[in-house]
Amino acid sequence: MSTLHLSHVLHAHLIQYILLLLVYNLTFHPLAKYPGPILWRCTRLKYLISGWKGYLHTDVMAMHKRYGSVVRIAPNELSFCDPAAWEDIYSNRGGALAFPKSRVIFSSLPGRADSIVTTIDDKLHARMKKKMDMGFTDSAVARQEDLVQKHVSKLVSKLRDKVQYSLDGEAIVNVVKWMVFVTLDIVTDLSFGESFHSLDNADVGEWGGVVFNSIRAQWCVALLRHYTWITWALNRLIPRSAKEKAEWIWSVVEEKVDRRLARMTDRPDFLDLWQRQGKGKEGLGDGQIYSNAVVMVVAGTETSSAILTGALCHLVNSPETLNMLTRELRTQFAQEDQMTFAAVKRLPYLNAVVKEVFRMCNPNPFGLPRITPPQGGTVCGNVLPGNVFVSIHAQALSMDDTRFHKATAFYPERWLPEVVADPSSPFRSDDRSSVQVFSIGPRSCIGQRLAMAEVTLTLAKLVWNFDFCRANTEAGELVWEEQRAFPVIEKKPFEVKISLKKS
Ligand code: HEM
Repeated sequence: MSTLHLSHVLHAHLIQYILLLLVYNLTFHPLAKYPGPILWRCTRLKYLISGWKGYLHTDVMAMHKRYGSVVRIAPNELSFCDPAAWEDIYSNRGGALAFPKSRVIFSSLPGRADSIVTTIDDKLHARMKKKMDMGFTDSAVARQEDLVQKHVSKLVSKLRDKVQYSLDGEAIVNVVKWMVFVTLDIVTDLSFGESFHSLDNADVGEWGGVVFNSIRAQWCVALLRHYTWITWALNRLIPRSAKEKAEWIWSVVEEKVDRRLARMTDRPDFLDLWQRQGKGKEGLGDGQIYSNAVVMVVAGTETSSAILTGALCHLVNSPETLNMLTRELRTQFAQEDQMTFAAVKRLPYLNAVVKEVFRMCNPNPFGLPRITPPQGGTVCGNVLPGNVFVSIHAQALSMDDTRFHKATAFYPERWLPEVVADPSSPFRSDDRSSVQVFSIGPRSCIGQRLAMAEVTLTLAKLVWNFDFCRANTEAGELVWEEQRAFPVIEKKPFEVKISLKKS
């Protein structure tokens, strides 16, 4: 047989194989009965393209609107838009364990220790989380308050300078940048014992920039891992400069962590609390400390800064709500230093605003992917075979107008205790359990107490100190829901006009 002939035969077999696979995916596959667009059900290509472009969350949300609460978004993947799925997928309940994570999505850098996020084995994860939890308890967060207050006060003073140096007592500020600066300084101070001084320099610095860009890169690589052969080829194609950059990040982390550990202090930072448990069996190994320190910086900055930006975005577009919040804060506190973690936690309207922002501006807008165990599992009454990817589409769920009155509008009132109890309120039957911005179960957010305290305090201090309104600039027109996600929301520039408070 000539080489040409052999090549034709191989091509013909390949085409036959692909056609058979497409037909199988649409007809005999165990998930064939679930609805979804045909091109998404027969190959994973559409999913990959959508995820690569950053529109997976909006595409899947549109599918839920069209096809209902269970949608097949790839041959072996289902998305759920049903609060009952929180328990079924993410929580240990009634003897059934939470569904595991998959190596396809979560992987550490070659040669580096797994962090809490990339540890797949549930027992190892539970052990690691128990050791790390010390840094996130109520009492740990209370001890971290001075450190958080210091950075939030610096944010206020930097913004005040901007207003005071302006000609007309008003400044246009890109909120996204400032929210990243303050959250990055807080979390690096807690992770490395020294902040990145982003507020001082009005810049995240080279290291910060590289780390944030790497989230998107890791997401794209995770998408491609669905096709093993592409990953194999990619690993060979990654330019040496990119590999050197990754090594550089790691060496900076090692240096910062080692420097902090060498300084014996009793600062209430994460490293102090992790170090107290010793090493090895009792505590975290060196490699785990380094990889978790990076996770803290990324997980603690990307999310909290998105929530704060989303809050200001909705508030300047809802002047009535902003007035109510301003009034609550300024009548409750005569002086700025009265605003403590405990004091702001007690304000009903402020807390309702934060919860409504959680509902509308989830930094992780689509599914937190899990895989059914080899023996299979049940989600919302659907008995599924093993190794099926499943997730809840958080944004579709919290914007579902069958679960929330005026679901796409910003109404903090829906969270007020008196509204929840009022039988005549249109918000009474809102399905509040649908919103789980920190997820639930053994893999839920370890930093949620810190995040709640940090976000609530920062928002309170900003609104207490400044009058905010819309900026008539292109970046002042941002529509939060139209942003892309990789998989964390991308946070486009968003400008607001600020002036010192008048009343
Ligand atoms: C408003 C802010 C925040 C939101 C909305 C948020 C949300 C989440 C969510 C949904 C998860 C689960 C991810 C998954 O299952 O794949 C998670 C996990 C995690 N978060 Fe947060 N987070 C926030 C702030 C923080 C902060 C401030 C820190 C630390 C300083 C942090 C550290 C972590 C870590 C380490 C995990 C992994 C936990 C585990 O695997 O057991 N987060 N977060």
